[in-house]
Amino acid sequence: MLLKVVMAVSGAFLLLYLVLHMVGNLKIFLGGPALDEYAGWLRTILEPALPYEGMLWVVRVVLAVSVVAHIVSAVLLTLRARRARPVKYVGGNHQVKGSYAARTMRWGGVIIALFVVYHLLDLTTGTLNPNGVHLHVYANVAADFAPSRWYVTLFYVLAVVAVGFHVRHGLWSGLQTLGASNNRRERPLKIVSTVFAVVLTVGFLSVPLAVTFGVV
Ligand code: HEM
Repeated sequence: MLLKVVMAVSGAFLLLYLVLHMVGNLKIFLGGPALDEYAGWLRTILEPALPYEGMLWVVRVVLAVSVVAHIVSAVLLTLRARRARPVKYVGGNHQVKGSYAARTMRWGGVIIALFVVYHLLDLTTGTLNPNGVHLHVYANVAADFAPSRWYVTLFYVLAVVAVGFHVRHGLWSGLQTLGASNNRRERPLKIVSTVFAVVLTVGFLSVPLAVTFGVV
């Protein structure tokens, strides 16, 4: 039970970050300067009580701890499920007893982790970005998803769809772990998780697609 709670609580922090990140990204629709100004503001929150980028680093530490806790508990839960079924099923490699969703979550999680590494090198450090100028967020995003780099947009679309599926099942499972579910609420909570995941996915997708198709 403890592992599932760690999984659910760390997932909740990650989800909160995703919602704030998605909403922040939509600033691009108010114009390039609005997005750059927002990125600057993120670094001055609670100044001068905190130093420049102080709050950003608090968020980064919480995120890093949550990611590690989420992955470690996922691995331990998987090993536990495997131990519970030590005898292999006949005729195949199905020793991990678990639903289709549970397996999708594992592979989805691996894909998302790889995407995040690429994404940080792309838009945070600028290493893999064709523009890659610190705090010139709009120019970096515009260069990244230029029509000629349609394959980068496609990669982001696939990764965000993976995030959407992961959030849909993860939110639903997390709500169960944290006791929000019972027989009567099962259906409404499934609908809430799906709607939430769709809104998050569409919000994230809108930015790279708008750049590639010349809307912004
Ligand atoms: C698909 C649309 C997305 C766009 C356009 C986008 C854009 C950006 C940009 C421009 C930054 C740098 C911001 C800055 O330095 O001020 C950033 C940072 C980041 N993004 Fe995204 N992002 C997207 C999706 C995602 C997704 C799906 C995730 C997670 C699964 C994610 C996780 C992060 C993280 C962890 C950072 C680093 C924050 C930090 O510590 O500075 N992003 N993103």
